[in-house]
Amino acid sequence: MLKGTIELLGDKSISHRAIMFSSISKGYNRISNFLMGEDCLSTISCFKKLGVGIEIKKNDVFIRGNGLYGLKKPSDILDVGNSGTTIRLMMGILAGNNLEATLVGDSSISKRPMDRVINPLREMGCDIIGDNFTPITIKGGNLNPIHYKMPISSAQVKSSLILASLYANGESTIIEKSKSRNHTEIMLKSFGANINVDSLKIKVNPVDELFSQDIYVPGDISSASFIIVATLITKNSEVIIKNVGLNETRTGIIDVIKKMGGNIEIINNKTICGELVGDLLVKYTKNLNGIVIEKDLIPRLIDEIPIIAVLATQADGKTIIKDASELKVKESNRIKSVVDNLKLLKADIKETDDGMIINGKSKLKGNKIKTYNDHRVAMSFFVAGLISEGEVLIDNKDCVDISFPGYFDTIKKLIK
Ligand code: S3P
Repeated sequence: MLKGTIELLGDKSISHRAIMFSSISKGYNRISNFLMGEDCLSTISCFKKLGVGIEIKKNDVFIRGNGLYGLKKPSDILDVGNSGTTIRLMMGILAGNNLEATLVGDSSISKRPMDRVINPLREMGCDIIGDNFTPITIKGGNLNPIHYKMPISSAQVKSSLILASLYANGESTIIEKSKSRNHTEIMLKSFGANINVDSLKIKVNPVDELFSQDIYVPGDISSASFIIVATLITKNSEVIIKNVGLNETRTGIIDVIKKMGGNIEIINNKTICGELVGDLLVKYTKNLNGIVIEKDLIPRLIDEIPIIAVLATQADGKTIIKDASELKVKESNRIKSVVDNLKLLKADIKETDDGMIINGKSKLKGNKIKTYNDHRVAMSFFVAGLISEGEVLIDNKDCVDISFPGYFDTIKKLIK
């Protein structure tokens, strides 16, 4: 069983944004409870190459911002590693700066589509060499405003366009397909950006400068979700996770767990730096039921679908996940990687065009699974291993460092 009280490192999405917005602000910034995962360290390394002064002290980061137009031409290519957020958001910032930079990443990044950002940035007048995939060279400066109705729901695309719009010579409008995480809008406003949000419509007007901030990064709900599910499905468990980010664009997993009959409660909450933060009390739940997960709920739990699939194998009846074809272009094709691996553990699961159907409840059996170097696949199947008969062997455990350094020890410390 799992027992105890823990606090997690900072949210990945918010940590990335804190580095980026601080780097283009004027003045000194302090970021506390920053996530020292590989993805966020890639963002730091890119902005250092763009001439920004960044210092790390324990879990805090100190940044002397270069101002909105102050990034320097990098002498080297910018390597984003495994991080989609780094490359797509940076493209928006680079589009507005009068310099040339080339972006590359690892083998997973080189297969992920970038035309979703390249096309609208070109529409704004940005000069980009490259098609859909890395390497991509951006020659920034002189952007026109954009009026863009997004064809997909993506916080990375939305954020990239909001950032480019800071540099445009007029008002831009971005219309979302459905509400995705809104950390960019919240944080940029605190830096002094001129952003107005009216449900799915976001209006951005240029400003001369952004002004430095002290930012506290709440615990990552996506990382918490592995511990939450481990607690729900392991007999007699009870865990408190403190200071988790509970922004409602991210709490789809809590809604899903409640609908499945899972025992989860928010026992405290407050707003810090515009973000809702609270403590979660989670208890083992014997009887869970299958549900349908679809439509506007999908962007609110997109990164949690692998672990939700593991949870669904322990719920009675059918869980249907649909409208989730974006999963195919994550760090791995997460429809395939989740379905194929759960089949190896003898779950009753079927791949569909835009998701999966899981029939529970199954007794999972140990086997060797393939992570495809996807951190969330590795972490999900470690949780499956906690309740399987026989061991679940994970081919690459190190990839968890992308978003959750210390993951295995954190869970092992909770096991009593
Ligand atoms: C993220 C947005 C989501 C999410 C990713 C982080 C962000 O991607 O899957 O892990 O920080 O903006 P999409 O925008 O591609 O949906």
